[in-house]
Parts: sequence; structure tokens; C-alpha cells
Amino acid sequence: MPSIAVIGAQWGDEGKGKITDYEAGRADMVVRYQGGSNAGHTIKVGEEVFALHILPSGIVRKGVINVIGNGVIVDLISLDREIAELESRGKNVEGLKISDRANVILNWHRLLDGAEERLRGSKTVGTTGKGIGPCYSDKIARSGIRMGDLLDPELLEERLDTVMPMKLKVMDILGVRLAQNKEELFKELLAYGRKYEKYITDTSVLVNDALDQGKNVLFEGAQGTMLDIDHGTYPFVTSSNCVAGAICTGSGVGPKRVDEIMGVLKAYTTRVGAGPFPTELKDATGEMLMNVGGEFGTTTGRARRCGWLDLLVVEHAARLNGLTQFAVTKLDVMNGLKTVKVAVAYEIDGKKVYHFPGNFKMLERAKPVYEELDGWSGWKEEETMEIVRGGFDALPKEMRQYIGYIEKRSKVPARIISIGKGREETIRR
Ligand code: GDP
Ligand code: IMO
Ligand code: MG
Repeated sequence: MPSIAVIGAQWGDEGKGKITDYEAGRADMVVRYQGGSNAGHTIKVGEEVFALHILPSGIVRKGVINVIGNGVIVDLISLDREIAELESRGKNVEGLKISDRANVILNWHRLLDGAEERLRGSKTVGTTGKGIGPCYSDKIARSGIRMGDLLDPELLEERLDTVMPMKLKVMDILGVRLAQNKEELFKELLAYGRKYEKYITDTSVLVNDALDQGKNVLFEGAQGTMLDIDHGTYPFVTSSNCVAGAICTGSGVGPKRVDEIMGVLKAYTTRVGAGPFPTELKDATGEMLMNVGGEFGTTTGRARRCGWLDLLVVEHAARLNGLTQFAVTKLDVMNGLKTVKVAVAYEIDGKKVYHFPGNFKMLERAKPVYEELDGWSGWKEEETMEIVRGGFDALPKEMRQYIGYIEKRSKVPARIISIGKGREETIRR
């Protein structure tokens, strides 16, 4: 702190929710700046588990201001459901702030997401079906509806009159039908506006004021570097920039305002949905990682593909985000493996490749070149807190060597080590 970003270094689901909640213990404000409810961020505090899709992961901490920045696309149904659930569990969401500039996901975005996936035939992206691609497309095409529009009936009506005829034409061509007419949609959106008016504001002013006052601000990334629209495994990516650069545009702060960039790095690799994944394991080890790691999507419930750690991915993430530190998560899941492998290069068409290529066809042909390291035996679940109290030196020697190896190859220090789902199952170095 004072300002820190928490960013996924792989294909999402690295444990950003857990690490954000952990770090939020010293934050005054947590800011989401991209993505939508395609994200699924899990937090475990004691026996309570929270799965957040649209609300920032500082929301379960008392006294933290939680900001949904302008770069996020807001799913009103998700928002409604999540706020209701948190309130029913005794959590107060009064510290929530939503940017008046954030675009809104509408029913046609969900319908078009499904229609586009069907039309891709066997080449689907495997989206979460939340309308992410179509909503970001509309934002860029200047056909979006924004949170602030819901507060101004005249503006909202004008926007719907401009945008809706285009959307209806496209839906007609793609063979999907909207259940609502314009009047119904208009009324529904105005009702949301009235309900959420108290949260909607110019969040750029809020975030900058907090930084000016020396408050601790945490920027919480969604998805991960390899799902970034520019730098990920295009076209098998999400529709937003997920790298650190997106913080500025997505929350309205200048590039000099972020002090530390923490990459959340799962000790092995997972990916949900389609697309290249060179170190994927389709064997018993992959199955073990999936089962022990509970690798099933927080948003869609789909099984996550699992594989070894890939240093080309790690190096890509370190460079693109300017990572200043790692939080390494899920090391406990690898307990008991005799040896562990790390990809240090690919062999593509007989040539060694050391940087992550942009061509997905090449990636499909990539054969990882591995280095093998010693694995470590585990510990009993009831011993976890004893290890946490003992700190880094209490971790198995080979695990420390594994972390040291990642640090040396990536030149990024690992400041947080996570060895369990729980908030407290975490070591700060
Ligand atoms: P996010 O999208 O990056 O926030 O990650 P998800 O919440 O989708 O997925 C991470 C999963 O791993 C969640 O179920 C977490 O509770 C869990 N998790 C996070 N850190 C650890 C860890 O160090 N060990 C174990 N065993 N589970 C963890
Ligand atoms: P968190 O924040 C993992 C993946 C989808 C799909 C691709 C495009 O929990 O890490 P989209 O619906 O965004 O158009 O889908 O991106 N994807 C994620 N994978 N974690 C996520 O978020 C993801 N958000 C999107 O599975 O392959
Ligand atoms: Mg997730």
C-alpha cells in the first residue's frame, strides 16, 4: 500500500478474490475496473464462503469503500442478487459506489452472446454466456446504455430510441427474440436507476480523492493476463483488457497512481473454456489437480482444465503488467507430488520458442520443454495454521525451492504464499 493492484497472471481463477480480501484488511477502498459478472471471486472467512461476480472483494470487510469503476460492465441482475444475498447474510453494502459511466449489460447482450457462440459452430470461445462480448462491443460502437442514463428518463428514452432498433435488427438476423418491448425495458431500467441511485456517482473523483488523501486503494483485476483482449490467446479471450494498463482507463486514474502491481499466480495452471493451453495435462496428475484443487468454475460450474506451471506465461504476465510481486496460491494442492514440472520453452515446428506466441495455431502445435523439480510431501489439514504461524521457513524445503525457482526465473519476488482457501491460511513475507 498505499495503492496496489491485484491481477491474474494466468487464465483467471488464480485466487484474486482470496488475495484481494486478504489485502483488503489494510485497504480503505477496493476498486474493480474491468470485466463483469463473468468473474467469480471466492472468499472464505472462517466457515463462511462468498462467491462474488460483480461486487468488489472488499465487500465483506467492514468500513471498506467498494467501487465498481467505469470500465466494468454492470449486470443488474447479478448486482441485485449479490446485494440481496450479502444483506441476508448480515453484510452491509452501504460503502458501495458505482460509476455513472459504467455500461450496463442488457438482455440483448446475453441473447447475442448465446447466438454468436452457436454460430461459431465447433470453434466456440466457451464464453460464460453473461453477454460480455456483445456488451463491450456495443460500448466501443457507442451503442451502450450507462449506469448514469438510468437516472435520467429523457436521456434514457433517447438512448433506447437510438440503440434499440439496431439491436432488434441484428437479433432478427441472428434468430433471437427479446421478450420485452421498449416501454417495458424503459420502465425496468428506470426502476433499477431509482433503486441504485444512492450508489451511482463519478467514481473517478472518489478514487482520486482517496489517493490524494493518502488512503490505501486496492485495484482488483478480473480474469487474467492470458484472457486479455490484446495480449491473451486471441480469439479465445474475454472482451476487455485485463492487464494493469486497464486500471487507468477503467477507473479514471493516471498511470503514476498505482504503486505496487501484484500478480496472483496459481502454483499450477488452469483454464476454463476453449483455446490453447500448452502445458495442459490430460492424465492422472491433471485429474488430481482438478479434484484436490476443486477446479470447477465459480461462475459456470464447468470443470477447469489443469496443467503444469508455464514460465512463458509467467514471464508474459510479469512484463505486460510490470509486476512488482507475486501472491502464489494453491501450493497446498500440489502436496504429495514426487516431482513437479515447469515449462521453460516451447518447441514449435522444430524450433525453440521462449516468448509466448500470439498465433493460436502455433500454440496448438507447441510442445512444452520442461524442467523437473523435486516435489514435496504434504501436511495434515490441522497442521496448516501451525505452518502459517511458522512463516515461510516452516514450509517444506522443496516447496520453498519451487517458489525460489519461480522468483529467479521471473525476477519477481513472491510476497504472499497461500496454502489454503481460508483468509488466514496465508503467509506474508
Ligand atoms: P479468482 O477468480 O481469481 O478470484 O479465483 P476463484 O475464486 O474463481 O478460484 C480460486 C479457487 O481456489 C477458489 O475456490 C478459492 O477458494 C480457492 N483457493 C484460493 N487460494 C487457495 C489456496 O491457496 N489453496 C487452496 N486449496 N484453495 C485456494
Ligand atoms: P475470474 O475473474 C476464468 C473465460 C471464459 C471464456 C472466455 C470468454 O473469475 O478469474 P466471456 O464470458 O468473458 O466472454 O468468456 O473467458 N473467462 C474466465 N475464465 N476466470 C474468469 O474470471 C473468466 N472470465 C471469463 O471461460 O473462455
Ligand atoms: Mg474465478
